[in-house]
Amino acid sequence: MKKIGVLTRDCAGINAAIRAVVRTAAFHNIEVLGIIKGYDGLIDRDLIELDRHSVSGILNRGGTILKTARAKRFLTAEGQTQAVKTIAENDLDGLIVIGGNGSLTGAHILATEYQVPMIGVPATIDNDINGVKMSIGADSAVNVAIEALDKIRDTATSLERVFVVEVMGRDCGYIALQVALAGGCEEVLIPEKETDMESICADIVEGSSQGKISWIVIVAEGSTKGSEVADTIVKETGLETRLSVLGYIQRGGVPTAFDRLLAARLGSFAVEILKDGQTDMCVGYTDKKLITIPLEQAIQPKKIDYERDYRLIKILT
Ligand code: F6P
Repeated sequence: MKKIGVLTRDCAGINAAIRAVVRTAAFHNIEVLGIIKGYDGLIDRDLIELDRHSVSGILNRGGTILKTARAKRFLTAEGQTQAVKTIAENDLDGLIVIGGNGSLTGAHILATEYQVPMIGVPATIDNDINGVKMSIGADSAVNVAIEALDKIRDTATSLERVFVVEVMGRDCGYIALQVALAGGCEEVLIPEKETDMESICADIVEGSSQGKISWIVIVAEGSTKGSEVADTIVKETGLETRLSVLGYIQRGGVPTAFDRLLAARLGSFAVEILKDGQTDMCVGYTDKKLITIPLEQAIQPKKIDYERDYRLIKILT
C-alpha cells in the first residue's frame, strides 16, 4: 500500500483522527491525500497532500481542517463514477472515511459497488453508529451541552421557571438522555420513545403544587419541536416557560480527552487494517478493545436501551 485518501464529516475530535491517520500512515511509509469537502472533493478532484508536519497543532481544534459538505451529487451514479475516477487518477489504494451515518453509507457504496478498499471511522455527535459504543464527537457534544445546561439551571432557579432545552439528535436520543441524567433534569423526550405530553404536564402541575419551583425538560431535536413542547407546557400548566435551542454549539469546540483518545485509537487502527487488506469495515472501541464491524451493519439504525436511564432520571429528580 503506497497512498491512501482521507475524507471527513464535521464534529469535535475529527482533526485528532485525521492526525492519527496521517501519522500512522507516515509510520508505514504510506502517503496520504486529504479530500476537501467530503465526497464533493472526490467529484471535484479537490485533494491536498498531508504529511506528518501538516497535521501539527490540530489535535485540540474542533471542526475539520479538510472542510466538509452534504454532497448531494455523490448520491447519483454520475457523481459516484466521477469519485471513483478521481481515486484512480490519484493512485489511491484505499480511503478512510471519518463521519456519521451518511458518510459511512458512502464508504459502503464505494467498497461494494466500485471495489474501492474503504474503512469507516465513526464520528458523529448523534452516536448512532450501530455496533459501536461511542462515536468520536459524542462525548464532547454532551459536555458542551452540560456546561450550557448548568447555566440555564441558574436562571431557571432564580426566576422559578420551566426551561425546555432542545439538544441535537436527529434519530437518536443519546445526547438528550446523557444530558438529562448528568444534568439532573426532570424530563427528557427522545425520538425512540413516544412523547406523552399529558403525563409530563401532569407531573409538573403535581410538583408545583408541592412547592417545586423550576424544571428542565430536555428535548432531542428528532422527537418533538422544542417550541411545541414549550407551548404545550404553558397551555397545560400556566407556568412561565422558556425555550433554549442549543443547536450547533454542540458540534464544534475543543474535543474532550475522551474523544481525543478515541480519535487516536480509531484513526490509527483504521490505517492498520486498511494496510492489512481489510475493506468495507467500520472500526470501533468497545469494552476496551478495538473492534471491526461490517459497514453494512454499522449503517443500520442503532437501538439504545433507554428504559434504564429513563427510570433513573425519574428516581433522581
Ligand atoms: O448528524 C449530526 C447532526 O448534528 C444532527 O444531530 C443534526 O440533525 C444534523 O447533524 C445537522 O446537520 P447539518 O450540518 O446538515 O445541518
